This record gives sequence, C-alpha cells and structure tokens, in this order.
Amino acid sequence: MAFLGDLNGAPGRRTLMAHLDELRHDHEPDLIIANAENLRNGSGLSPDLYHAIRRLGIDAVTLGDHVYRDRRIVPFLEDPSEPICRPANLSAHAPGKRCIRVPLPKVCGGGDLLVFSLLGRVYMGLPANDPFAVADELLAANPSVAGTLVDVHMEATAEKAATAFHLDGRVSTVLGTHTHVPTADARVLPGGTAFQTDVGMCGPYASIIGRDPDAVLRHMRTAVHTPYEMGSGDERLCGALVILRPGSSTASSITPFQYGGNAPSSKK
Ligand SMILES: [Fe+2]
Ligand SMILES: [Fe+2]
Repeated sequence: MAFLGDLNGAPGRRTLMAHLDELRHDHEPDLIIANAENLRNGSGLSPDLYHAIRRLGIDAVTLGDHVYRDRRIVPFLEDPSEPICRPANLSAHAPGKRCIRVPLPKVCGGGDLLVFSLLGRVYMGLPANDPFAVADELLAANPSVAGTLVDVHMEATAEKAATAFHLDGRVSTVLGTHTHVPTADARVLPGGTAFQTDVGMCGPYASIIGRDPDAVLRHMRTAVHTPYEMGSGDERLCGALVILRPGSSTASSITPFQYGGNAPSSKK
C-alpha cells in the first residue's frame, strides 16, 4: 500500500501525472492513498480536483486542517460511497465521515483497510478533540478490519510519535502529514506498526513548504499580510510504501520514496 503526502497545488497534481507510473512500476502498490488537503492552489480540495486524482488512480483520500476551505467538497465527505473523509477528531457537528473502509485486493488477503486522519492539538489552528481517544473509539467501532492506516496530520513531531506509540501493534501504519517535509525516521515500531513522522508533500520543494519564498519572507519579515502564492520548481512526489502483514493489523516494512525534481532517488 502506498501513501502520498499532502498533494500541493498544480505542482502536486503534475507530480502525480509525471511519476505515478514509475511508482507503480517500482513498488507495485495494491492501493494508493493520498492526503489532498492542499490540492486546490495550496488550500482545500475542489470536487473537480477530487475527480481528477481519482481518475489518475488514487483509491482513497484523507484531509487535514484545510478540509473545509472549499465547501463544495462537503457532499463528497458525507456520501458513504465516496472514499474520502474529514479529520476524525473534529467536532461531532463537523460535516463528513470520520473514516472510510477501502477494500483490499484478494492477493492481500481481502478485507477492508480502515483509513482515517487525526488532527494535532499542538500548534494547530483548528480546534480538535483528543486524537488518542478518537482513534481508540474508531478502532473499537471497526473490530473486523484487515488493517488500518492512520494519517497523523500534526505539527509537533512528539505528538505524531506519541500517537504512533499509543497505536503500536493495533494499526498497520501511522504516517505523518502537514509539515510537508519528509523525515528520515521511517521504521516499524516494536509492536509492529509502521511509522514515519512526515512522508513529505507532493509539490514544489524549491519553496517554503509549497509557497513562494518571496511572499512568505515578505510576510515574516514585515508582519504585513501578504497573500501566499504557490511556489514552483523541484517538484517531487513523496510518500511511503507500507507492506501490510495479512491478518495481523500490523506491517512488515516501510519504504519511503521520492520521485522527480532533485529527489535523491529520482532517475535522471
Ligand atoms: Fe498540508
Ligand atoms: Fe495541514
């Protein structure tokens, strides 16, 4: 199973079109799941873009703090047949499904992969409920799944690691998003859960986490509100491949990948 970090604007979509075939060739993932919270010019997801990435072969979609920036996505979040969910630990009144179940191919033993994202509560703008308790509740409500992917959409590395250790041995993988920078700590935890603090965004790395450096610097140095434009250049597809251990809700390996731009593994 492959998971792609925050798809970021037009460059993020370009990386999908340019490198998905290479990813399929190299790793033969049975499922490809992506966080798409930044696909609409860096903020939110429109129905058109949702359809576009589904057509490219993305099997399921998670979101983060930008979930409602384009409210036209709400009917898709509420539709039980659409494989897209809002962060699970928002208010009970927030619209949309908290999790989705994605059928695994027979070669992986069949059954469903439970997928959900959790927002952090440290240095995050959107009020969120206790991610540990919400994860426990969703696992208790879905006892018969073949595996679970948890997207930890959090700013603080310690909060991501704490969530991973809390769920170790009970979910297949805990994969970080939101900070848009791939971390060098991919590993299988003692209980068998595959974890990486951040799998990295799919977007332009010649930028400040996806945004045009000039605009971000102007804002940070003067404090005057400045609209952020998308950055460009060094466009990479980033994520991790997780091999699930059939019937155990854990994983046997995690392999981060990067394609395109100046990625260390990219084929020139
Ligand atoms: Fe993001
Ligand atoms: Fe985010």
